[in-house]
Amino acid sequence: MLTLRTPAKVNIGLWVERRRSDGYHELRSLFFPVSLFDRLSFEVRERGIELSCDIPHVPSDSKNLVWLAADLYFTYTGVRSGIRVDLKKGIPVGHGLGGGSSDAAATLIGLDRLFNTRLSGDELRSLALELGMDCSFFLDPRPCLVTGRGERIKPLKVPSFDLVIYSPGFGVSTPWAYKQLKRLTNGSKPCKLLFKALRERRYHEASQWLYNSFEEVVYRCYPELERMVEWFNSKGAWVAGLSGSGSALFAVVGPDVEFELPAGTRGRLFRVRTLERWGVV
Ligand code: C5P
Repeated sequence: MLTLRTPAKVNIGLWVERRRSDGYHELRSLFFPVSLFDRLSFEVRERGIELSCDIPHVPSDSKNLVWLAADLYFTYTGVRSGIRVDLKKGIPVGHGLGGGSSDAAATLIGLDRLFNTRLSGDELRSLALELGMDCSFFLDPRPCLVTGRGERIKPLKVPSFDLVIYSPGFGVSTPWAYKQLKRLTNGSKPCKLLFKALRERRYHEASQWLYNSFEEVVYRCYPELERMVEWFNSKGAWVAGLSGSGSALFAVVGPDVEFELPAGTRGRLFRVRTLERWGVV
């Protein structure tokens, strides 16, 4: 039996720059792993892929990225075995926090360790890419500049900082959000300035370079999310915005500032920290 904890990510800044002929988009974003985790336990079985999850609406068949990752692993390596995976979700589902991709990356790493197949970094990355664009980031989670379709990953040195994540309790579909996009924006200059401000801990200044291409369409459909960003700002958050295509919001905050949801507001707050490095353990 092997158990791994695998983190969520937050996008601070996300520019969708170009539509490609293959239906995907070119983006630019700062990805930060954060201390909010899913837990996966693996147990060798004679055959088949068996998955159980502690949240009822998460599929436990080939619609789940964990199942697909295990299937891909067995096909690629030729290992003749089965696996049982027990998934405990700490990362809200469908929130733009990368939980599914993180679970899939942890599955590739877990099976590689369990069966001692010693896949190279390149092999793991190419398998991860087949599973989803965010997936290869989670093979070695640390602050990164992510470009291309999400497959070009450049590690960045950024001191860790405190965040509050707001989960409104519902998800937003990423393909839907991409389809709604009207405006494409080049982010190379503001993204560089945003990174510089975060690296130098000038968080207040970082907010002026923050941008997320999905905010316009997501806030139009869910105005309560925009109101929550205003609430974070009014409570003294340095930077607040949408993570990925939502629905989660993040706020960069001082270590001692307390946040409690206004009475009658749905959802949950998670107090987390960005991780400078996480060797999926
Ligand atoms: O990579 P992932 O499977 O998470 O992407 C989900 C969907 O988001 C894709 O099927 C595509 O519609 C859209 N997408 C995109 N451009 C990207 C990443 C995702 O259009 N770079």
